[in-house]
Amino acid sequence: MSHTLKSPLALAGLSAAVVVVTGIGLTPRLQAQNTARPQTAQLEVLASAQQYFPSDELKVPTARLFRLTRDQIDATVAVLLPGYAAKPLKSVMARDPLQTNYEYAELLTVNAANVGALSGWITGIAARVKDKPTGVIACEGAPPVNDCLQREARKFAQRAFRGDVSDDRLGQIVAFYTKGVTDVGFAQATAELVEVVLNSPSFLFRKEIDTTKNNRLTPAQLLQAVTYTIADAPPEKLNLKSEQASQYLTSSRDAGITIDAVVRSVPAREKLARFFKAWLELRDPDEFTISTAVFPEFTPKLASAMLDETQRFLSVQLAKETPTLKDITHAPDAYVSKAIEGLYVTRAADAAGGTPVKLDPTQRIGVFSQPAVIASHSGPTNSRPIKRGVFWARKVMCMDMEPPPPDLHAKIYDLQGATERQKIEQSTEKAACIGCHKIINPLGFFLEGYDALGKWRTTENGQKIDTSILIDFLDDAPAETTTPVEALRVLTKSAMFKQCFVRQLFRFYMGRSEEPSDHPLLRQMFFTFANNDDQDLLKLVYMLTSSDRIVKRQ
Ligand code: HEC
Repeated sequence: MSHTLKSPLALAGLSAAVVVVTGIGLTPRLQAQNTARPQTAQLEVLASAQQYFPSDELKVPTARLFRLTRDQIDATVAVLLPGYAAKPLKSVMARDPLQTNYEYAELLTVNAANVGALSGWITGIAARVKDKPTGVIACEGAPPVNDCLQREARKFAQRAFRGDVSDDRLGQIVAFYTKGVTDVGFAQATAELVEVVLNSPSFLFRKEIDTTKNNRLTPAQLLQAVTYTIADAPPEKLNLKSEQASQYLTSSRDAGITIDAVVRSVPAREKLARFFKAWLELRDPDEFTISTAVFPEFTPKLASAMLDETQRFLSVQLAKETPTLKDITHAPDAYVSKAIEGLYVTRAADAAGGTPVKLDPTQRIGVFSQPAVIASHSGPTNSRPIKRGVFWARKVMCMDMEPPPPDLHAKIYDLQGATERQKIEQSTEKAACIGCHKIINPLGFFLEGYDALGKWRTTENGQKIDTSILIDFLDDAPAETTTPVEALRVLTKSAMFKQCFVRQLFRFYMGRSEEPSDHPLLRQMFFTFANNDDQDLLKLVYMLTSSDRIVKRQ
């Protein structure tokens, strides 16, 4: 088919893709109802979809074997062995190596750096099982070896492996267990069963394709791909049964219903909150790099209260029937507790921050104006506009930003009495700098209305703060703004912002960067997200999971 013959929809590679998605059973609630839309607006979104995700490459990305993340292991053990883990694995095992803050799947391994913590944690669980074995193997009066023991051991292994285990292997595990009961007794043997199962690759890993089965995943493998991708949890946490996996995803209609239900679940919304935390690079209270010598008010208590505010805000937004990105970026209110009220001019609603407080609309709007987000990109001694701007350019707008050439003397002039902005402007106006800094600088300067902690300010060093910027580096029409709120409105309305968000969400959920062969899906996700400015978050996760990257991969 030649390009000139294509309809605009086909041009964006959408017609086929939309049919595919509807085909796998978009439930009415999630179905795009874009019939009576003004044509021009829709065409603009289509053009952007094509511009940002142009490839039509047909290729199945390389298959991976995933080690479960720490969150996923915790959720799995919580369902499998409730009450047996003294602490979450997350609190004892070091964070996996990060790439732009996401736990990239290929970096998830069991290695010298984490195997000690992992196996120590499992040993701790086994010790508690030994104290209370009937919580795992619910058989009375054991030994001698009986049917109950065999049945329960089999059931335990099957659930631990989320149904992805052959009968042979189950037979071996049961034989190992019953021999153990005879040799070392019920309690010790049950502890050993748990230890062996939790250390097994079938527990710790899951597959993207199964080369032993014609590259097709079994229903059980597919079901866990769905639940871990959407919710970081095993099927059982979502009231789905691994051993009856084939009933959930067989027909397109069943798949649509199952995925829809998982996407709407509480664990799925908790994963979305984790995505936001990673995307915004929100720091944990002990990770901020704000100097307490310069900001004595930045106590550990304040740091946690700041983080609490944003996490609370996110969880309220994400619990809505239809959470949207625009509500998160444009919220007129926040949960200002007593501890952080000093950062806001607004008075705290109550000590616990239970009800939202209306913010001063000339000073704050949405998540990007919250102290935890701002302070995560400041410091140690000042607001760090370049650091803030680089975060915005790279992570929020997905603009390619080369690292600065190493031979450049990237030092800010120390001009007496000048504002940080004035110093940076003077230091980076040279031709050798301005190529990058004409984008980085404005993306930091508009936030100068907030100090390092995210507190509103109008002066610095006795000088008036200048937060005006010219936004002429987006693909949208240029705009001049004077306040942080105005700039945030323009930036978050842009197609560039929305396409970047879709990309970031894809990266986080897939645990990898996008490839050209992902463009048809990304185009479709972006279109659905940006069309009519819906910005529907659950729909994005639904589309991703039901796509040929996951459920329809084979
Ligand atoms: C190729 C793009 C590029 C060029 C050219 C460039 N920079 Fe940068 N600059 C960056 C990026 C990206 C960072 C952030 C580095 C990082 O931390 O990853 C940065 C960081 C800085 C910082 C550190 C700011 C902070 O708070 O950490 C200063 C100062 C700076 N640049 C000044 C300059 C000056 C002066 C020039 C010209 C002599 C220059 N840069 C040229 C991209 C560039």
